[in-house]
This record gives sequence, structure tokens and C-alpha cells, in this order.
Amino acid sequence: MAEYRVVVLPGDGVGPEVTDAAVRVLQRLDIDLHLQWHPFGGSAIDETGVPLPESTLAACFDADAVFLGAVGGPKWQGASVRPEAGLLKLRQQLKLFANIRPVRPILSVAATASPLKPSAVEDVDLVVVRELTGGIYFGEPRERREEDGDVVAVDTCVYRTSDVRRIAELGFSLARRRRSRVISVDKANVLETSRLWREVVTEVQGDFPDVALEHQLVDSAAMRLVTHAREFDVLLTSNMFGDILSDEASVLAGSIGVLPSASLGAGTFGLYEPIHGSAPDIAGRGISNPVGAILSAAMMLEHSLGRPELARRVEAAVQETLTEGVRTRDLGGAQNTAEVAEEVAARLGDDKCQ
Ligand code: NAD
Ligand code: IPM
Ligand code: MN
Repeated sequence: MAEYRVVVLPGDGVGPEVTDAAVRVLQRLDIDLHLQWHPFGGSAIDETGVPLPESTLAACFDADAVFLGAVGGPKWQGASVRPEAGLLKLRQQLKLFANIRPVRPILSVAATASPLKPSAVEDVDLVVVRELTGGIYFGEPRERREEDGDVVAVDTCVYRTSDVRRIAELGFSLARRRRSRVISVDKANVLETSRLWREVVTEVQGDFPDVALEHQLVDSAAMRLVTHAREFDVLLTSNMFGDILSDEASVLAGSIGVLPSASLGAGTFGLYEPIHGSAPDIAGRGISNPVGAILSAAMMLEHSLGRPELARRVEAAVQETLTEGVRTRDLGGAQNTAEVAEEVAARLGDDKCQ
């Protein structure tokens, strides 16, 4: 029996390409992994009629970690069951309430690939802590037809004190291991849920007096993220704001293709995926950037597999690869997905013989 069981969900679009790349890197490490592939997303809809088959969910419950590519695409856009619904159900069922999205641009990469000035990107090291199983994503969307035939679409946004408390505690604990600064982002000038968010986050800060807390409204926070990104250490926010702000933050790094994420719950179990989607515009050509997926694998090594030293080695190999100019075209490079993965893997050496 292998030491660690990892369920791999390649998904749709570029999902399988970047997943293959990350698996290739993982397989170069001296770690006893049992990998098991399962259908998920649009490809699972095609195969079984549902995006999250029971057997896939059961395998995830049985695993030490789940590694995911991406789901969705134009093929399933108008369908009654959508691939994205499977992802939301998976996060909810596995109780993964915290989505951690670190943003640490490599200056030489950002200098050529980001539209921002190098001075705006220099020394940026932030992490988005996004609430993942509540808020407007998990209200009760309903549709109703008015008497005059008008259709009304409804999304409700619900947050409980306990939801906010647990994500805030995680955000403050993380900040303590970093630069001890939390910027909590909300829309308290308009939303009731944001006023509760602000109140509870302020209360939680009482247990972390050594961590500085600032509240900021999401609209101006979106601006500050590109004008003064260095000021962010932990950016703590709700489900939808975190989704949007993390894609914005990827501009600091040069491409959405390089940002990883970890979705965590109470224990060491986690789900790891790049923050990008299935990128239908470039899928199937082997040109997608595998770095976000590879760095997600590094996060998995650290959080779920208890091997932080291997995580550091993978991160160093990625940094060297990109710094040397081995990059996919979203970063202005000429290499394809597999070539970048191979270069990262080669830098890990023949680990298994050591
Ligand atoms: P996207 O992230 O898929 O793509 C946005 C842009 O970034 C595109 O131009 C794409 O080519 C580029 N891009 C994304 N990943 C890249 C990579 N690894 N390398 C190079 N370029 C990359 O966002 P979208 O187009 O808005 O969404 C497409 C589909 O993906 C939708 O169905 C959406 O629901 C889904 N999606 C899934 C996830 C997930 O599975 N976690 C995340 C986001 C979006
Ligand atoms: C992400 C994606 C998902 C989200 C979608 C596909 C449901 O955008 O993981 O960032 O909004 O959480
Ligand atoms: Mn997103």
C-alpha cells in the first residue's frame, strides 16, 4: 500500500494537460504516491450524465488529497447540468471552507509578461484567503415567473457568524506565520452579509492582537491590488470577492496560468487546483501553462502529504525554469506545456536514486 492516496480529476479543456504536467513532476520525487484517476466535470457529464459521479465523490472521501485540473467549457454552457455545479458540490461535500491562493510574482517574469510596471510588482507577496463554501455561491438561487410573464432570477447571499469566524481564524493564523497583516475585504457600505463579516472579523482579531487588521471596501481594494499590491499580506474575503480578486491578482504575476490554490477544511485533507479555468480558447493545443498546476502540487506536498521540503524543491525548480526563460506563450515564451513540465522535473534530478 502506497503511503499517500491522491485522487486525480483532470476535468475539461486544458485541465488534463496541466494535470499530466503536474503528475509528471510529482512522479519524479521520492515519495510513495498512489494516484487514482476519476471522471469529473463536463467529461463526467458526457460519460455518466452528472458532473460529480458518486464513485468519484467516494474516492475523494477515501483519499489523502485531491488534485484537480479545471472544469467547464462552451459544450456544456446551455445544459441543465453544468460542470461547475459539480465543483461547488465537491467543495461543499468535502467541507473545504478555505481557499488559499498565494501570489508571489517572479520579477523577471512579471517584467516581461505583466502589463504592470515592475515597480508595481516588486516585493509583492500576498495570499488571498477566500471563504469557499458559503455566500452567494451557496444561497438558494430560484427562478420565478411573474404574473405578467416576466422572469425573475434570484441569488441569495447568506453568511453565518460561524462561517465568518472559522475563515477569519484561519486568515489570522496564516498572517501570524507571515507579515502579521490582514486586510479584510467586503462591501459593508451596501451588504448586510458584509456588515456581519466586518463585525466578526473585528471580533476574531481580539484573539490575534499581534496581527494588524484593516477593513477595505472591495471596489477600492480592487484598485489598491494593482496600485499598491505590496501592502497586502493576507487578503481575507468572501467567496465571490475572492474569486474575482484572485484573477485580478494574477496580473501581478504575469499570467493566470501560474497561480496555484489549496482548498482546505479542518484537517490535513485538501483539494489542489490551479486558479485558472479550462481555457477553451487554447485547449487541446498543448500550449497551456502548467506552472499553476505544478505549484498546486507543491501546496499538496506541504499541506496534505506532510512533505514541505519537497514542496520547496518543486517551487525552486519552477522558479529556475521560468527565470531561465523556459516559458509557455502566455508568459511570452516558446515552450509547450510538456516541455515546461519536463524542464521542472529535470531540475528535481533523479530524486528517486538519492
Ligand atoms: P479561464 O481561466 O479558463 O481563461 C481565461 C483566459 O486565461 C483565457 O484567455 C485562457 O486562455 C487563459 N488561461 C487560463 N489558463 C491558462 C493556462 N494554464 N495557460 C495559459 N493561459 C491560460 O477562464 P474563462 O475563460 O472565464 O472560463 C472558461 C471555463 O472554465 C468556464 O466554463 C469556467 O466556468 C471554467 N472555470 C473553471 C475553473 C475550475 O475548474 N476551477 C476555474 C475558473 C473557470
Ligand atoms: C474558481 C472558479 C470556480 C469558482 C467556478 C468554476 C465555479 O472560477 O475556482 O476560481 O467560481 O469558484
Ligand atoms: Mn475563478
